[in-house]
Amino acid sequence: MNPTVTLNEHDGIAILCIDAPPVNALSLAIVARLRDEVRRFAANAQLQALVICAAGRTFVAGADAREFSKPDFTHESFGDLMREVEALDRPVVAALHGTALGAGLELALACHWRVAAPGTRMGLPEVLLGVLAGAGGTQRLPRLVGAELALDLMLSGRQIGADDALKAGLIDAVVSGEPQDVGSSFARTLVERGAKPLRTRDRALPTPGVEEVLSQARAQVNKRAAYPAPQRIVQCVEAAVHLPFEEGMAVESQLFDECRRSSVSGALRHLFFAQREAARLPGIDNSVRPRAITKVGVVGAGTMGGGIAMNFANAGIATVIVENNEVALERGLARIRDNYQITAAKGKLSSQDVETRMGLLQGALSFDALADCDLVIEAVFENLEIKRDVCERLGRICKPGAIIGSNTSTLDIDLLAEASGRPADFLGLHFFSPANVMKLLEVVRGAGTAPDVLVTAMHIARTIGKVPVVSGVCYGFIGNRMLESYLREADFLLMEGASPAQIDRAIEALGLAMGPCRMLDMAGTDVAGKIVLERAKAGSLPADPSYRAVVVRLLESGRHGQKTGAGYYRYEGRTPTDDPGFTTMCEELARQHGIARRSEISDAEIVQRCLYPLINEGACILEEGIAYRGGDVDVVWAQGYGFPDHQGGPLFMADQLGLPHIVQTLQHYGESRGNAFGYWNISALLRGLALEGGRLSEQRAP
Ligand code: NAI
Repeated sequence: MNPTVTLNEHDGIAILCIDAPPVNALSLAIVARLRDEVRRFAANAQLQALVICAAGRTFVAGADAREFSKPDFTHESFGDLMREVEALDRPVVAALHGTALGAGLELALACHWRVAAPGTRMGLPEVLLGVLAGAGGTQRLPRLVGAELALDLMLSGRQIGADDALKAGLIDAVVSGEPQDVGSSFARTLVERGAKPLRTRDRALPTPGVEEVLSQARAQVNKRAAYPAPQRIVQCVEAAVHLPFEEGMAVESQLFDECRRSSVSGALRHLFFAQREAARLPGIDNSVRPRAITKVGVVGAGTMGGGIAMNFANAGIATVIVENNEVALERGLARIRDNYQITAAKGKLSSQDVETRMGLLQGALSFDALADCDLVIEAVFENLEIKRDVCERLGRICKPGAIIGSNTSTLDIDLLAEASGRPADFLGLHFFSPANVMKLLEVVRGAGTAPDVLVTAMHIARTIGKVPVVSGVCYGFIGNRMLESYLREADFLLMEGASPAQIDRAIEALGLAMGPCRMLDMAGTDVAGKIVLERAKAGSLPADPSYRAVVVRLLESGRHGQKTGAGYYRYEGRTPTDDPGFTTMCEELARQHGIARRSEISDAEIVQRCLYPLINEGACILEEGIAYRGGDVDVVWAQGYGFPDHQGGPLFMADQLGLPHIVQTLQHYGESRGNAFGYWNISALLRGLALEGGRLSEQRAP
């Protein structure tokens, strides 16, 4: 449906209604139409007041941020519209419902009065997209609610509800009813009492304590130096405090544009849209409905099973946890209770909530307890024979139409699907640890997975607050497959003479939460080492005896990471320190594998050797159709692997660095290091895009 803007008259009151489904986002075209209608109102002296409202489920939920990247985008028309609205000589009332966010709230701020339906949520969340409110929001909000709350809202991007907004002076009334009726009766009262326009721009900003508030805000944003918007938001509020309104508007306008053009904002916008897009399933039309999920089963109450079960209990869904022995079951349930109690102790959960959630979790020692579940997820030991047996039993016990999911990280989903005897009902549901905290869920579509099973998985994922991304079947799916080449190079660099601290520092300088050595020490080098050995046994590794030799040696020598006090590092508590014993181990491994050691390895080489093969693997994943879209790959890394959102994910980062540079660098290492095992083979897709000037992050699978 095409967006419309209409101006209707009702008894001397004009109603300006925006109808642009789904969320009435303001595009440049809608802004132009609004301006025309506002001028029509201005020219018609018969009309006594203006009500601005929106149709559908919400008021204006923001500007259409997709337009920010267009070459001809200019934001001035937004600010000008708000000025014209505010300058009108008769009362203007914004009638809000649903959400009034970003440009939507800015429009409301430019109106002379604001009324909201109960439950309306308001905010200026631009910072989450790396920009700031650029249509007068930074100048008007502090004038209405004071600098402190304005800064809080603009720096966090959080939303406030109607009652709090009323208390803060952001709105003038909370009234139930249809927005246009509520707006017109409010406007009628104003007309009857001869009210004069109350313009936000003319209000004096409350100043007591404001310098203190500003200096605290400056200190706070200095800690977020990688992001340009927060600092500039503070500068805008300083302008609101110290300068006349129009001068403040000029500051805001310039700083908005700086933010909009920044690569950080580009990265955040990319991830924002990629995350929404990731929920869409190409080739499956909207008529495919999800299956109902009212009861869930989890097999295995270990690290993952417990966390997975918590997700469902948190969403109010009854969940059965099945273990094969009493001790493990009791331990698993006790760990869940402990987890909830820790949250309760922080004041984030009431003791009643703890009991309600525990009440939804039922422990059992027999698979029979799973017979009436709509979805069963197995999270037993990572062993093909054990998992096959479990899947085969689930296939026999689950009711017809039940969905069976596996949380395996490394095993072939199609083999497990076959074991269940119900490949259409089977899929991978790869949660990340800690499963009750991490947002990412890789939804693995098997060769036989039915479309409605995939739709159900996406649906239930959102119900439990996850960000689902679909992956095809391959070793490691999207995330761990890419991680493999990164860890491979980290181990080679260590044998060549880099230290764990140098590698981690170089990687963390890019903004990644944790470098590879600290990460493996935390996860346990025993787990990682065993996977390498398993793969070697299965013949699925390159015939390179030095492949990830460091992690295997750590496993064999009992240096299992933090939990044993030593791994890549030595630990005092959780603090890692360099360990000469580890260096000796790397020297020995280098001798054993004929790897030359160097005294100087640059940080640039570390970054290129670890990250560029990972990017190349991402391109292979797209080329093979394992991921649907480049954006999906970036979402996986931002949500599951601590990749910094201000870099937009590895593929977005590659686009920023320039794909020709990535290709040349991969080629360079292929030549200088030799390519006996194909480590430096370059994806045809990556090569092609580098030649054509295309972008990996915008690529769709064939
Ligand atoms: P875990 O060893 O902590 O837990 C496995 C649990 O399964 C144990 O409590 C065990 O008693 C139970 N179990 C084993 N056989 C069973 C059977 N036949 N019936 C019922 N219960 C049985 O293992 P963890 O770490 O929770 O891993 C489970 C699965 O999750 C594995 O497939 C693993 O690859 C996957 N995974 C693990 C991640 C991690 O970070 N730990 C991350 C993502 C996936």
